[in-house]
Amino acid sequence: MSEALSITQPAVDAIVAQALAAIASASDLNELKSLRGRVVGDQSAIAELNAQLRNLPNDQKAAAGALIGKARGELNAAYSARESEMFLAEERAKLAAESVDVTAAPSHSRFGARHPLSLLMDQISDIFVGMGWEIAEGPEIENEWFNFDALNFDADHPARAMQDTFFVEPVESHLVLRTHTSPVQVRSLLERELPVYVLCPGRVFRTDELDATHTPVFHQVEGLAVDKGLTMADLKGTLEHFARVMFGPDAQIRLRPSFFPFTEPSAELDVWHPGAKGGARWVEWGGCGMVNPNVLRAAGIDPEVYSGFAFGMGIERTLMFRNDVKDMHDMVEADIRFSEQFGVTL
Ligand code: DAH
Repeated sequence: MSEALSITQPAVDAIVAQALAAIASASDLNELKSLRGRVVGDQSAIAELNAQLRNLPNDQKAAAGALIGKARGELNAAYSARESEMFLAEERAKLAAESVDVTAAPSHSRFGARHPLSLLMDQISDIFVGMGWEIAEGPEIENEWFNFDALNFDADHPARAMQDTFFVEPVESHLVLRTHTSPVQVRSLLERELPVYVLCPGRVFRTDELDATHTPVFHQVEGLAVDKGLTMADLKGTLEHFARVMFGPDAQIRLRPSFFPFTEPSAELDVWHPGAKGGARWVEWGGCGMVNPNVLRAAGIDPEVYSGFAFGMGIERTLMFRNDVKDMHDMVEADIRFSEQFGVTL
């Protein structure tokens, strides 16, 4: 049994003063909790003093008990007050640390930009949709028959040779990666009711190495009109309108005799580009012509009743000379800074 302590006002005051100092010295909630037993709990000096009560003569018990009870009340209150004060302070600090300033200026972030090739294809599509044409699509892995035979290519036409065309294995499947968008001409004629006015933008493939002016994957846009009574005047008028929307009201077009198996007569299409870098000039833009009667026949159309015209051009090439892009690498590398120059258009 511990040595008897005298239960006097000064002794109680000393114990209370010591316990209050201990409570005040705790620097955080954890430390305070670890002190609890020693300042107000079972191992505290005041609890020890309380244990002495039963050793007192009966007539002193009430007064000593009141003294201890008051001291205990004071210590419990001090402990609780400190505890809630620290709890609030810690909560406040935590909230402050986790706060987000919703009014702060955001750090610069890029929205991204559509690729200029997509923008250009959309722009071209809009021009033709505006004239009542429809947009047609076909598969990128195409039957050799649509890509070549139905377009009147001879069996030994050089364009079929391995150095130009990606053939899909096995060779007996007679599938190729389409080398142009012209096969969509035949598909459209087979699928649609006459008359047909379609524009076919799309991806095409040739076995070229990537360099400043070539890429094995590129884009073309194909136009096809088949109706009663169409002539080269309709072809020329259509291309003239197309050129003026693309290159400005002073643009002109020029047709030079050429050869394509699927058109007869065929022409190379040049455009007078008034805004060309370094001054207005003629630029080779694409190919065109009147649809060869053999192509109409392949689609089951009587060339004595219907006639048509067609044209096709490269999108990359158009972008290069229209916007003065000098290197094809810029178009395939997908550097956002390249696309952003053409505007962030949705
Ligand atoms: N398909 C041709 C090519 O890839 C381009 C072309 C020429 C398309 C004449 C046509 C056309 O529709 O009439 O080189």
